[in-house]
Amino acid sequence: MNLLQIENLSVKFQSTQGTIDAVSNVSFAVKPGEIRGIIGESGSGKSVLSLALLGLLDEKAQVQYDYFSFNNESLSELSQHQRIKKLRKNISIIFQDPSESLNPTLTLKSQLRETIALHNDGAGSDFITEESARLLSDVGLSAHESLLPLYPHQLSDGVNQRIMIALALACSPKLLIADEATTNLDMTIQAQILQLLTGLSRDRNMAVVMITHDFAILAEATQSTSVMYCGYLLETGKTAELLHSPKHPYTQSLVNSVPQLGTAVKSHSHLYALPGSIPPADQIPVGCPLGPRCPRAGKPCVKLPPVQGDDEHKFRCHFPLGER
Ligand SMILES: Nc1ncnc2c1ncn2[C@@H]1O[C@H](COP(=O)(O)OP(=O)(O)OP(=O)(O)O)[C@@H](O)[C@H]1O
Ligand SMILES: [Mg+2]
Repeated sequence: MNLLQIENLSVKFQSTQGTIDAVSNVSFAVKPGEIRGIIGESGSGKSVLSLALLGLLDEKAQVQYDYFSFNNESLSELSQHQRIKKLRKNISIIFQDPSESLNPTLTLKSQLRETIALHNDGAGSDFITEESARLLSDVGLSAHESLLPLYPHQLSDGVNQRIMIALALACSPKLLIADEATTNLDMTIQAQILQLLTGLSRDRNMAVVMITHDFAILAEATQSTSVMYCGYLLETGKTAELLHSPKHPYTQSLVNSVPQLGTAVKSHSHLYALPGSIPPADQIPVGCPLGPRCPRAGKPCVKLPPVQGDDEHKFRCHFPLGER
């Protein structure tokens, strides 16, 4: 059973240069309680994908999909408004920079009370006070009394990120999307926040989609991973399998970009170090988007490779690793 399932999601933007394909025919599923990673370079479409799921893109974005279900209920037939209403009750999202998401003019106490009241129609003051304490304790801020009168600028980045997570938990989400949620934090705080997210996922059976450009984070925290490039999912599978036997040369190059993981994986891994960088969204090559950057590219690659493999491990490549 899947908590979230989406088939062939595409997001386009119209610009003065023409159409920008930010997300192209992406299919993926998240199981209840699962921690799934989405990895890709800057501009690969990770944030657009997650914002599209929650209907948080502006009206100019053209979002299309063939199938969309959440919690065993097909949402494909619902209007955008109805679908989003349902999803926002069950999915929360946290971003990279808590200082941008938190309201700088509200104390921690007011932010919590406002958010809890929003998700609990008609809740009394005592309930809101208890719920505030519970949420803070859930995110490891049990000494909450001293924090409550403070404003975001008076708190550290790590504490603010914990508060963001507490606010995201206020609707008891079945799925939490963490979009680069630990990117700006120093290493020890990053490890603490990852530990917090994995603990919350386990204790609440809450699925987490962890968006990052760092395979080391995924290796530590996720069970499965999808690799995104130029709006396409190039490979999806168990994180350990992608790390040790990736099928796509692009996945291999990402693994190699984490030195201690890369050297442990393949002695000839330098073969897959990719030249160049990800093209802008209006200059994606025809066919396989990796195109001229790929060391294994051949004539067939002028056509987009079909999705191959099985439910456990899928990839889009004409010349997958280990098969040539
Ligand atoms: N509102 C928009 N209008 C036009 N193009 C957009 C818009 N939002 C995103 N894009 C384009 O869509 C592509 C994907 O962007 P997205 O923000 O999803 O990348 P990302 O993988 O999240 O990158 P990063 O790692 O830097 O956060 C980019 O080329 C971006 O320029
Ligand atoms: Mg992003």
